[in-house]
Amino acid sequence: MKKIGIVTLFSFSVIAADYSQEIETRQDNFQHLDATVDLLDDAFDKEAIDWDRIMPLAQSAHLTVEEQKTLFPEGSADNSRARTKIWVQKAEFEGKFDTLSQQFMLISEAAVEQDEEAARAALDKAFSQCRSCHMNYRSLW
Ligand code: HEC
Repeated sequence: MKKIGIVTLFSFSVIAADYSQEIETRQDNFQHLDATVDLLDDAFDKEAIDWDRIMPLAQSAHLTVEEQKTLFPEGSADNSRARTKIWVQKAEFEGKFDTLSQQFMLISEAAVEQDEEAARAALDKAFSQCRSCHMNYRSLW
C-alpha cells in the first residue's frame, strides 16, 4: 500500500512539471511585443515616415514572435491565461505565430522598398493575428 502511494506521488510530480520560467518569459515577451507594435503604429501616424525607425522595430518584433513559439510547452496552461485548447490544436496555434512573424518580415522588407501601402497592410494583418489568437487561445482571466 505504502509503495503504491510513493509511486503515485512520484508520477504526479513528473506530470506537474514547473513551467513558471517559460510562462514568465512568454508573458514578458508579449508585453514587449505590445509596446513594439504600439511604436510601429505611431510611426505610421507621422506625416513623414521614418523607415530607419520602423526597420529595427519590425525586426525585433519578428524575433520576439519566433521565440514565443518555443515558450508554450505542453502542460504550461496552469497559472497563466493560456487555454489548454492550444495543445489540442497546436498546428493552428503555431500557424498564427508564423503568420504574425511573417508580417514583421514583410514590414522590414517594405521598409527597404519604402513601400508604405505594403507595410500598412502587413501591420493591419499583424493586429488581426493578435486579436484572433487571443479570442481562440487566451482565457479571459
Ligand atoms: C498564436 C497566439 C497569439 C498571438 C498571435 C498573439 N498572442 Fe498575445 N497572448 C497569447 C496567449 C495564449 C496569451 C496568454 C499567455 C500566458 O498567460 O501565459 C497572450 C497574452 C498576451 C498579453 C498579456 C501578457 C501578460 O503580461 O500576461 C499581451 C499584452 C499580448 N498577448 C499581446 C499580444 C500582441 C500585441 C500580439 C500581436 C502583435 C499578440 N499578443 C499575438 C496568444 C497570442
